[in-house]
Amino acid sequence: MFFTIAAAAFGLFAPASALLRFPCSSLTVQRLDPLVNPGMNPSAHLHQIVGGNSFNETMPSESHDLPSLSTCTSCQFSEDFSNYWTAVLFYKAKNGTFKRVPQRAQGGGFGGGAQNQGGMMVYYMTDALFDTAQRSTVTAFKPGFRMLVGDSTYRDREQARKWRQLTYICMENEGTRAPEYIGFPPKPCPAGIMANHRFPTCWDGKNLDSPNHQDHVAYPESGTFESGGPCPASHPVKLPQILLETVWDTTAFNDPADFADGNQPFVWSSGDPTGYSSHADYLFGWKDDSLQRAMDGHTYVSAPMLQSQGVAQQNQCKVPDVVREDIDSWLTELPGANPVV
Ligand SMILES: *[C@@H]1O[C@H](CO)[C@@H](O)[C@H](O)[C@H]1NC(C)=O
Ligand SMILES: *[C@@H]1O[C@H](CO)[C@@H](O)[C@H](O)[C@H]1NC(C)=O
Repeated sequence: MFFTIAAAAFGLFAPASALLRFPCSSLTVQRLDPLVNPGMNPSAHLHQIVGGNSFNETMPSESHDLPSLSTCTSCQFSEDFSNYWTAVLFYKAKNGTFKRVPQRAQGGGFGGGAQNQGGMMVYYMTDALFDTAQRSTVTAFKPGFRMLVGDSTYRDREQARKWRQLTYICMENEGTRAPEYIGFPPKPCPAGIMANHRFPTCWDGKNLDSPNHQDHVAYPESGTFESGGPCPASHPVKLPQILLETVWDTTAFNDPADFADGNQPFVWSSGDPTGYSSHADYLFGWKDDSLQRAMDGHTYVSAPMLQSQGVAQQNQCKVPDVVREDIDSWLTELPGANPVV
């Protein structure tokens, strides 16, 4: 029932046609990064994290089995103990202080029910988002698989071209999905800023990770995932495309004066005032073969082969704050003292 209403509300319902679309509540917001900065507490910059509660500062690919070490997940599909995370958006006031930008609920609320707390909307698809047939065959990720898309050190358009489809949408209203910007939108966005992270879709078939967490995956060698482009010989295995949508509720920070002369007042927690450093991390953690079964089902949004849980249960799944630093006051510096450059 929930799926029908959710799908209908977004105009995506097609009963016979594998695309998964599901909300994940916030699991925690803290300065940890078990992929890029394993063992570091605190890590370099602040992240917002969703998924299974085995998330911790150290999660070795070989030994950290997310489904068996987690006791809950903040995602709707209760067999998904993966972790997904991105940087955190801050508003930089004219007096130089910073305020964390809240995240808008990405699910729930139907018929007056509970809403997801923050978090993001997660998609897995075998073909382009609006292709309701989802006919292509994909290979689900293997236990221990992880990857990173984007680069937290990038600050210009040319660098950002390396990535396909790390974008922002300046939301005029809840339904706005175009145009997509590569840097931060240069104008106030009445309904907030949506950050979109689409991961590469071709795998080398051998390595669960690589030193930069990127070389074991690639983009199609011609065309795009959306156009059905083939994977390169070096990375022949077609993966589902993961898309993360995070909506930053900038509505309290839309003073036109902040946007004069082509400026905008937002910075990522890494200190990036451009938006070109957009990045996201993924640690695969679906239980058993649940993701493969879902992809093989060729359904669209509805996923009768998967177990799911309600919004209240998703909201209850949290990991403790082990960094314990102030992230919510008007801060005189970004967490980690990252300079804005
Ligand atoms: C998280 O990692 C720390 C450091 O390795 C460890 O002491 C702690 O027990 C872990 N927490 C959980 C819940 O496993
Ligand atoms: C800086 O500006 C913000 C936004 O106007 C305000 O809320 C905050 O109190 C100011 N902080 C200081 C130290 O003036």
